[in-house]
Amino acid sequence: MGEKLRVAVLGAGRWAESAHIPGWQRDPRCEIVVICDPVVENARAFAGQFGIPYYTGDWQEAVARADVDIVDVVTPSHTHFELSWAALEAGKHVLCEKPVAYDFRQTLRAADLAKSKGLKTKLGFTFRYSPGVLYAREMIDQGFVGTPFIFNGYEQNSQWLDPQTPLRQVFVDADQSVIQTSSLEGYGAPIIDIGHWWVGADYSRVVGTMKNFIPERMVRATGTMMRMNIDDGDIFIHEYTNGAIGSIQTSFVTIGNYP
Ligand SMILES: NC(=O)c1ccc[n+]([C@@H]2O[C@H](COP(=O)([O-])OP(=O)(O)OC[C@H]3O[C@@H](n4cnc5c(N)ncnc54)[C@H](O)[C@@H]3O)[C@@H](O)[C@H]2O)c1
Repeated sequence: MGEKLRVAVLGAGRWAESAHIPGWQRDPRCEIVVICDPVVENARAFAGQFGIPYYTGDWQEAVARADVDIVDVVTPSHTHFELSWAALEAGKHVLCEKPVAYDFRQTLRAADLAKSKGLKTKLGFTFRYSPGVLYAREMIDQGFVGTPFIFNGYEQNSQWLDPQTPLRQVFVDADQSVIQTSSLEGYGAPIIDIGHWWVGADYSRVVGTMKNFIPERMVRATGTMMRMNIDDGDIFIHEYTNGAIGSIQTSFVTIGNYP
């Protein structure tokens, strides 16, 4: 085996701690060389907890380092595009948490930039690797299912049904007169991805609705109850470019867990 791939992890938060950092460290082909968080105490704590040799509060410094091959963006969603774009411009491969951007055209631009520089990119679509999802795909590949005509996807639970449960991953300075994607992005993205993967086609047409059921919530970043105009439930139907059709429903304010 050649030299190890050297990783800079941006974001010393919950998901980095439980998924990304343990994932990189399980693979002997990689090593994390820097952990970065503007809350420097968090970066320092993770450096100690995971034995990472260097920490910083400055993401630009982390991205510019010559000894970094891969940048792992596991920061709040509204920062993903700026950080991923800068990493690609600096010639690094990028693993980015979803969503890359709130406007799909920016995501396509980033994909083009990566392609033009011969860089690899990947999204944090972990559900693809769950045994049931892999098995279903295997049954499609083997022809057991036949041609998929209809894909129905649900991801819903009661995680933020209680308005006192501190909400994270929200942009507190967002214009609250306009609904912000939340459940559709957080819960919808993996299901939308699985649908694309199983059906083997992009969307051609979509119609749906996003709804804010719980107007005021405890926000972790401010520690106060705040108006948060986010979609905490949504439903849409769609057509795929190959003629299949589908429906998606996501919510984090429903009783019962699907899956
Ligand atoms: N794929 C999945 O199944 C899945 C699951 C959970 C979370 N996520 C995604 O992971 C991302 C992080 O979620 P989380 O729960 O860990 O959030 P979190 O708020 O716990 O952690 C994010 C960390 O990033 C830091 N940060 C902010 N700006 C930064 C910057 N410019 N550079 C470096 N660090 C910065 C914050 O200080 C914070 O410590 C979100 O985009 C979320 O949607 C994905």
